[in-house]
Amino acid sequence: MTDSDLSLKLARPSDATAIANMSRVLIEYGLRWRWTAERVAASIRDPNVNVLVARAHGRIVGFAIMRYGDDSAHLDLLAVAPAYRRFGIARQLLEWLEKCAVVAGIFTVALEVRAGNEAAQMFYRRMGYRPLSDLPGYYQGVESARRMERDLSAKGSDCGSARLQQS
Ligand SMILES: CC(C)(COP(=O)(O)OP(=O)(O)OC[C@H]1O[C@@H](n2cnc3c(N)ncnc32)[C@H](O)[C@@H]1OP(=O)(O)O)[C@@H](O)C(=O)NCCC(=O)NCCS
Repeated sequence: MTDSDLSLKLARPSDATAIANMSRVLIEYGLRWRWTAERVAASIRDPNVNVLVARAHGRIVGFAIMRYGDDSAHLDLLAVAPAYRRFGIARQLLEWLEKCAVVAGIFTVALEVRAGNEAAQMFYRRMGYRPLSDLPGYYQGVESARRMERDLSAKGSDCGSARLQQS
């Protein structure tokens, strides 16, 4: 896959079902499904949230949801379809959303990841995130979470033009 096969854009309301289904299978496996299509659609409508999708070959192959607060941002969800992993898609999704945080004057991004999800933790470490604490039973009592955080204060940004790509 080349970069020209890939596009990153803010999600449309009609993307909510595909995103929710990906979350159920790729992120929420073994848990009660909480990121339903209704919840994803509410995030797409929320002005404090960016729901970003990566499209390739005519379908959604990855997505990320970031919530922007006054002082910090929170990465709610991030996933890439298995056949499209290790092509840098998650990196591009996360960098796009981090740039928006910096433009908004937000320099801290936090997230929780399943304690047993070593691959995602390696990805986040590679992206500059550091583990802060463990949260026992965080995922419906089934699994603990590791909270991770990144300080973006060293980064510059120009995500304003990307925001205009919404269609
Ligand atoms: C974690 C995940 C989002 C990474 O997506 P991806 O598009 O494959 O990641 P990238 O290609 O952008 O990876 C960037 C770098 O992160 C690191 N990385 C990514 N996946 C890794 C893995 N499985 N093992 C070790 N390092 C990994 C590598 O350093 C990689 O660079 P490289 O490929 O040049 O070595 C993907 O594996 C996924 O969707 N997993 C299931 C859902 C999930 O766990 N989501 C996160 C928690 S909500």
